[in-house]
Amino acid sequence: MTTMVLWTWLITILHVLVVVGVCASGEPVVSRIAFGSCANQSSPQPIWNGIIDFDPQVFIWLGDNIYGDVKRPFKLFGRERTIGPWKNVPRFVPASETEMQFKYKKAKSNAGYSLLRKKTQVIGTWDDHDYGLNDAGKEFSGKNISQRLLLDFLDEPHDSPRRKQAGVYASYMFGPKGKEIKVILLDTRYHRDPLFTDGSILGDSQWAWLKKELYGPRTEVTIIGSSIQVISNLSATTGPLFYMESWGRFPRERNRLFQLIAKSKRDGVFFISGDVHFGEIVRYDCATGYPLYDITSSGLTQAVENAIPRPLAFLVELVAWLTPTTMRVIEPRCRYRSCTYGQPNFGAIEVDWGAMPVTVKVEVRDVNGDSATSVNIPLSELQNEGTNHGSTVKSVELQKQCSLEIDLPWIVRYRLAFLFFFASAVFLLSVVIAPIILSRRVFGKCKFD
Ligand SMILES: *[C@@H]1O[C@H](CO)[C@@H](O)[C@H](O)[C@H]1NC(C)=O
Ligand SMILES: *[C@@H]1O[C@H](CO)[C@@H](O)[C@H](O)[C@H]1NC(C)=O
Ligand SMILES: *[C@@H]1O[C@H](CO)[C@@H](O)[C@H](O)[C@H]1NC(C)=O
Repeated sequence: MTTMVLWTWLITILHVLVVVGVCASGEPVVSRIAFGSCANQSSPQPIWNGIIDFDPQVFIWLGDNIYGDVKRPFKLFGRERTIGPWKNVPRFVPASETEMQFKYKKAKSNAGYSLLRKKTQVIGTWDDHDYGLNDAGKEFSGKNISQRLLLDFLDEPHDSPRRKQAGVYASYMFGPKGKEIKVILLDTRYHRDPLFTDGSILGDSQWAWLKKELYGPRTEVTIIGSSIQVISNLSATTGPLFYMESWGRFPRERNRLFQLIAKSKRDGVFFISGDVHFGEIVRYDCATGYPLYDITSSGLTQAVENAIPRPLAFLVELVAWLTPTTMRVIEPRCRYRSCTYGQPNFGAIEVDWGAMPVTVKVEVRDVNGDSATSVNIPLSELQNEGTNHGSTVKSVELQKQCSLEIDLPWIVRYRLAFLFFFASAVFLLSVVIAPIILSRRVFGKCKFD
């Protein structure tokens, strides 16, 4: 009996201490953050159930939160041709403000998303389709309207300075001292120079802001959210067939970002990104004093394997194999051997504050919330030299990943293009040239007869 009372007392006191501890520091500890991108508001979105099961304290939108622009169908022939060398109209056109508003309304009233919003703080940035136009940059004339619509969707207060600045970049702090997480969300659209210029992605005002954010008060973890991939440069292996958007397309801007992080001596930084319609985890070891990770989750509904008929899904794996990146984290627990994931997915970040050293687990999870590919990052691994707090043991001794995709031998780098041109040649031979030869023979025979 007395032991029972004693125990009850002890537990009550402990409970009070915990509550006081949380209140004294003001902020609850944040240990679960989810993120995602590329959600078609007109598609079913069963993935919210998986996200709700993960029970995130914060959810981050990384862009293409709606498909705001209007997509015309692929048309090779006819009056309006959207594909081929004789294409005469763009594949995507901007929608009106009312249409965009309607699409946001649809996205926001989705039952699963509504449920998530009740329990979870939602923040976010945009990519091209919610900015208003596929692959658009600073030249897009509807950007101020789009900014207002996105910030309405995210319930940004009416007097927020974010409504007055040029672009939707923002930063957030979570957690009490000693367990702080900073989230920096970039705007890769509002100030972006045209593709193929190697110009700027962020623009001067956002660069100045980012510098202040990175040099500002230290935090244990700093997550930088970019709609487009920061580290993986898929275009190096998909070109010259087609090009994807990424920081790699703006090499000078990308180096500037890496140098800024390095010079700030900020520890615990990693990237999250979206856009590409598949999930992957990549790492680059030669940008700063420690490895830089980029965890890509894309999309919540849009995924490469859904874009083609089921029996051809293996083609996605084949293309993944044909477009190697030097940066991908290949790990035995990946669902697929390529460690990319081409079905709908979301990103799940879990910080184990109790572990020694504190560990961040980042996963790409499927619609059911099961892991497709993941990485465990001890925070001791994300420390600049000299500030390493006594922890010299790395969890896994990894091969340094320092070579860029463009440094791959040309026979490897262009194998997708080679295969494509080879297949096209075979096709051309069998469909165009072979019938000619064959008909000549038949014709010739007829003559003789
Ligand atoms: C979104 O889904 C709708 C309904 O399935 C479809 O008609 C539309 O083409 C999709 N949009 C995109 C951008 O995939
Ligand atoms: C868009 O907003 C920015 C500042 O937020 C302002 O400087 C600019 O003039 C606006 N552009 C248009 C076309 O209204
Ligand atoms: C990424 O690939 C593109 C296309 O090949 C190339 O122009 C660019 O320099 C690459 N960027 C980096 C950082 O390697």
